[in-house]
Amino acid sequence: TCWDYTIPGEPGGEMTAAEVWSSKDTAFPPGFVWGAATAAYQIEGAVAQDGRQPSMWDTFVQIPGNIANGDTGDVACDHYNRYKEDVQLMKDMGLQSYRYSISWSRVLPEGRGEVNAKGLEFYKDLTDELLANGITPAVTLYHWDLPEALSKQGGWLNESTVEAFAEFSDVMFDALGDKVKLWFTLNEPWTTSIAGYGQGQHAPGLKDMAENPYLSGHNQLLGHAAAVKVYREKYAATQGGKIGLVLSTEWKEPLCRSQGDKEAAERSLIWYLAWFADPIYKGDYPEAMKERVGDRLPVFTEAQKADLKGSSDFFGINHYATNLLQDPTEKIGAGNYFADLNGWIMMDPRWPMGDASWLSVVPWGMRRLLRWIKERYDDPEIYVTENGLSVPGESEMKLADALNDTERIDYLNGYVAEIWKAIHFDKVNVAGYYYWSLMDNFEWADGFDVRFGLIHIDYDNDQKRTPKKSAEVYKNMIAKYGGAA
Ligand code: NOJ
Repeated sequence: TCWDYTIPGEPGGEMTAAEVWSSKDTAFPPGFVWGAATAAYQIEGAVAQDGRQPSMWDTFVQIPGNIANGDTGDVACDHYNRYKEDVQLMKDMGLQSYRYSISWSRVLPEGRGEVNAKGLEFYKDLTDELLANGITPAVTLYHWDLPEALSKQGGWLNESTVEAFAEFSDVMFDALGDKVKLWFTLNEPWTTSIAGYGQGQHAPGLKDMAENPYLSGHNQLLGHAAAVKVYREKYAATQGGKIGLVLSTEWKEPLCRSQGDKEAAERSLIWYLAWFADPIYKGDYPEAMKERVGDRLPVFTEAQKADLKGSSDFFGINHYATNLLQDPTEKIGAGNYFADLNGWIMMDPRWPMGDASWLSVVPWGMRRLLRWIKERYDDPEIYVTENGLSVPGESEMKLADALNDTERIDYLNGYVAEIWKAIHFDKVNVAGYYYWSLMDNFEWADGFDVRFGLIHIDYDNDQKRTPKKSAEVYKNMIAKYGGAA
């Protein structure tokens, strides 16, 4: 029983996306939010404009070999100078909400201390522009671009970054909190911990899979809790917004229905998601991690546990793809993250893929993941804060072909249909959906080669924006199902 993923008797399990979208029963809960997401370093450009100082990504992209084609975020989509045009494009698409992040070193060029008024002004203007166009702002405080000044001192490996992040958050709540009612503290601490501090593919480019991931994750969790504490103590009562963390994982399906593979899949979910979610919903790391990681896993004090527990008003999840997990017959090395996890990660070769080796297109994985979160964390409110597809080879296509993005349309229809099933059949409390991304942008180590946008960016032609067919499909979906908001 390998390669068979059906669940006998699962309600709606056999329904295709086309059937979901033609059924009269298909409706989303009142207030469900339809949006799209971006991140500062991926779209803004203007890295030396108006007093911004470098983040660790500005440093990382300078090192030859780090980024495909030597791309950098120096100009990117030039959103910093074109945000008004971009807000109009959002409005044309009928977006109800926009998730964007703050460049910390634009606001606090040295990471702490002096506020750069011009940098702050940009985010005030952008937020006002959104509101003037009827679009609800949703702000990620930290999406990977740690100020270089802090990175030099160890970044997320240094506990002092926790305080610095709380101070930065305070500045942002104070500046935008009367207008922003949905806050995300950190984006994907798993990715920062593994790709940034463990494997070196992301900034700051450190390679140490034994201790770095756990220490970086630990300090990010403390940073999240510290920021939430500031919000709740100083602002929540008057500003009345919600705040939470954004986590990420693939769905982890056992390769075969053997006990070993099932346990490997569960372990993988623990090492990707429960690592961060358990401290927030249960007050500490999962038992399995404490056992297997031993003294490489930092320990929370009782006061830290108390601050962490209940520190998210909702569960933010970025989800794109599914993995298969196989129990290794022999242990995978020892003393590092993947040995601790102890499972082989694979893909089914029959699955369609996006423009990345990790991006398998498996819509039903979304429903299973949402159900797993509901069950393990006692039915939290969930925002799908990212989900989207890069179409293979899109950056090499002629414009007309890139705009005709049927794979992205299928992905969107497929994944959102599974969200609907999770809501309708499994009673998962999903409050909103943000497609990644509003527009093509700087896809980290893959540079501009990999495109996720609903809107095409022509980097060779003055950053010209053109909505793709998927933008039209999303617009129609929002118009049809977003009415109850
Ligand atoms: C997750 C990240 O949050 C985002 O920055 C990235 O571009 C997308 N996934 C796609 O890889």
